[in-house]
Amino acid sequence: MGNPFYLQEVPVDAPFCNRRTELKELRAYAEGKANVVLFSPRRYGKTSLVKRIQKTLSNKGAVTLFADFFGVASVDDVASRLAKAVFVITHKKDPLWKSALRTMKSFRPVLKPDPSGGVSLSVEPSGAGKGGLELLEETMDSLREFVNTTKSLVHVALDEFQEIVTLKEALQVEGIMRTHIQQQQASYFFIGSRRRILLGIFNDRQRPFFQSAINYPLRLLPSEELAEFIAEQFKKNKGRCTEAMGRKLVSLTGFHPYYSQKLAFFAYELSKTVTEESINRAMDRLILSEKPVFEAILQGLSPHQRLLLRALAKEATTKLLASGYIQKHGLGSVGGVQHSSRQLEELDLIEKDEETGVWRPVDPILTIWLRMQSEEKLSQ
Ligand SMILES: Nc1ncnc2c1ncn2[C@@H]1O[C@H](COP(=O)(O)OP(=O)(O)OP(=O)(O)O)[C@@H](O)[C@H]1O
Ligand SMILES: [Mg+2]
Repeated sequence: MGNPFYLQEVPVDAPFCNRRTELKELRAYAEGKANVVLFSPRRYGKTSLVKRIQKTLSNKGAVTLFADFFGVASVDDVASRLAKAVFVITHKKDPLWKSALRTMKSFRPVLKPDPSGGVSLSVEPSGAGKGGLELLEETMDSLREFVNTTKSLVHVALDEFQEIVTLKEALQVEGIMRTHIQQQQASYFFIGSRRRILLGIFNDRQRPFFQSAINYPLRLLPSEELAEFIAEQFKKNKGRCTEAMGRKLVSLTGFHPYYSQKLAFFAYELSKTVTEESINRAMDRLILSEKPVFEAILQGLSPHQRLLLRALAKEATTKLLASGYIQKHGLGSVGGVQHSSRQLEELDLIEKDEETGVWRPVDPILTIWLRMQSEEKLSQ
């Protein structure tokens, strides 16, 4: 029996913990043709959730487009990802495919056999010469025509939407997209984990998308249910995990959906019966497996940003700018802390808790790893 825990996006037919309210509410928004900004820290389950919603919508006859903007490199790239999403979902679905070929004028689909025996689809611009904002304009225009000629509901999910901000033409891209989306009878979900940047697009008066979508934060899963879910997966797969052990496991990851599944994955590999000892050993493995990711994160930061992140890992605080805190952690000037904290927030590495006002790192395992780095364990 294979390991039942998922480290990638959870497939739509795999066990999924809770999210009942979110599934219901978000589906209702989609059916009501509302636009939604769905945001949370990394790996809370946004993509898995949206894929599930799209599956339900699609079962009821909706056309569900999904475009991932992660690593988007140019305006042409934005346009091609949008066009590709249309061709991917309509492929082999006449008359939708014909309608896509007729309306999506700026790109044509290219189908090729792929090495695994299937078919892969990419797109190519159909006319030479056009590019950049003009190409995006034409693609959004085509998309509008596609949406408006499709009789059933069209739902569009744009994952990692905040990535468009990295383009130098970001404001124009926002302007073109907003104008065209406004004219469509469709529901758009804008999804992302760099919350400050994503929310900036929608909540800043000066920006084209200002107040054009419902803000929808995705919270952590209820801790009890997450513990039960983990214990249940062990039981269903010839393992044993008491509810107390399930609780212990999820509390070690700060009830984080992804890290809980990953910790459970390692625990299952080590022993089908979960014990305190197997959880602790699994935790070591989890931290070790994340090390390259954490090192890459630190490498991308300035020395002062690293210092501040480390300080917050050691000691979360409500008084980030107080001289006592700055002195204790050797953080230099108030101005320096303000600057670095803004940048760390934009990277979604630190956050201020809405209720308590406490500043802390966002990622619970990164926090543990940073603490471990400054506390060398001595051999006994
Ligand atoms: N409801 C859930 N039940 C069980 N596991 C979940 C659930 N939601 C998320 N997960 C776990 O979290 C992981 C991340 O899910 P997903 O990729 O959908 O998150 P995301 O928020 O889109 O992440 P990112 O911010 O990196 O794009 C999954 O691999 C799974 O292990
Ligand atoms: Mg995702």
